[in-house]
Amino acid sequence: MDIINNVKGTHDVFLDENNAYEMVESMMKSIAELYGYNGVRPPVLEYSQVFSRGVGESSDIVRKEMYTFLDKGGRELTLRPEFTAGIMRLVIQNKLYATNELPLKLYYNGPVFRYERPQLGRYRQFNQFGVESIGNNSPINDVEVIVLAYTILCSLGLEGVTLKINTLGDDVSRDNYRKALKEYFAKHIGNMCEDCKSRYELNPLRILDCKVSEDRPIIDKAPKIGDYLSEQSKLRFEDVKDALDTLQIPYEVDDGLVRGLDYYSETVFEFHYKSKTGANYGAIGAGGHYGKLMQELGGPEMPGVGFSFGIERIVSVLKDDSLLEDTKSSLDAYIMPLGSESLLFAEEVAVLLRNSGGYRVDLCFDKTKISNMFKRATNKGAKFGIIIGEDEINNESVILKKLDTQEQFTVKVDDLVNKLDELYDMEEGNK
Ligand code: HAM
Repeated sequence: MDIINNVKGTHDVFLDENNAYEMVESMMKSIAELYGYNGVRPPVLEYSQVFSRGVGESSDIVRKEMYTFLDKGGRELTLRPEFTAGIMRLVIQNKLYATNELPLKLYYNGPVFRYERPQLGRYRQFNQFGVESIGNNSPINDVEVIVLAYTILCSLGLEGVTLKINTLGDDVSRDNYRKALKEYFAKHIGNMCEDCKSRYELNPLRILDCKVSEDRPIIDKAPKIGDYLSEQSKLRFEDVKDALDTLQIPYEVDDGLVRGLDYYSETVFEFHYKSKTGANYGAIGAGGHYGKLMQELGGPEMPGVGFSFGIERIVSVLKDDSLLEDTKSSLDAYIMPLGSESLLFAEEVAVLLRNSGGYRVDLCFDKTKISNMFKRATNKGAKFGIIIGEDEINNESVILKKLDTQEQFTVKVDDLVNKLDELYDMEEGNK
């Protein structure tokens, strides 16, 4: 074990990349707020049963990917492998469903943990942003959630996102479908991977998640859910498609899309995006409707619909397509004290500009040539340089230099915030 390396499957986020994460997450949050969502922060740790019952015993996540351990009190806990089940637990425990206006609309953001094989776009600790809309069963509510996700991706500049949709139908549809799958796979299961053999026993629908290439030809020929839908589910899916058409959201129906979590019913969807590099990161976001999850966790009968984005994957495609240019950090001013005796005065000026002016300001702490300080100011994207030497200290003033035009002003410290305001206003006016 080398403690200088991060844990396999985790990654560090810093500097410009961190700015990109912040920009993406705050854009998602502000658009979710436009749609009437409120933020929640469930704990990272939950009792394991929240996920084994919520996400489902037969899912890959629960069978193979959870970070589960006993705490010092002997409780079996799990680091959340997804948000939705934990959000339902939060809603039930805090009786958030007992409101006179449903759906309850919640958004969330934070790290999730899955013990998966790390590869491009696949981490063991990654970040999700998502929403859950709980307590309304209308297909239009499903569509509103899809529109929100689509709008976020477009606002980030991702043009040409592919939205894949499908329906898993109601309980009757899925029961019939499971029977059909069991019958079909009975002839093949002997030649399939060990995982599929246990999936066959637990829930044959999960065989469709198998990624073993030798099994794919058999799986591709398996019956499709579309042929087992109840009349009601068929009509519901028609309503979803009609609403997407009306709202001009482009989509593809993918009758092989079943999603890997057990709680879904009716509408399911995934977002894919091919960046310029052609790299395949997998789905950048996904979600769907769930009819019985609340009940499964001991709450009232209340359906929900939601999605989660994978922030790592979204930042990767934005980076590939050069859509992160304006997330570079920049400063309003970089202060250059000439000599260590000017440092405290420089710090006073910095505090004044930050606290009274709301300006982003940094200063040079080490002894270096003025030419180096100017280089640093440029590297930090500063608009202004502020030079402070002995004369300036004696006169309680600074030299303010506009770095693009090289214009220079001597300004009393008391007037500095006003002067910067004025220069910014002039610049705005010139645009
Ligand atoms: P999910 O499809 O398991 O759904 O994950 C959602 C998104 O998280 C994926 O589309 C992908 O972008 C990202 N993701 C998943 N696994 C990884 C990984 N190992 N590394 C990096 N990114 C990953 C859910 O989690 C559901 N809770 C979504 C939902 C919300 N359904 C209803 N409400």
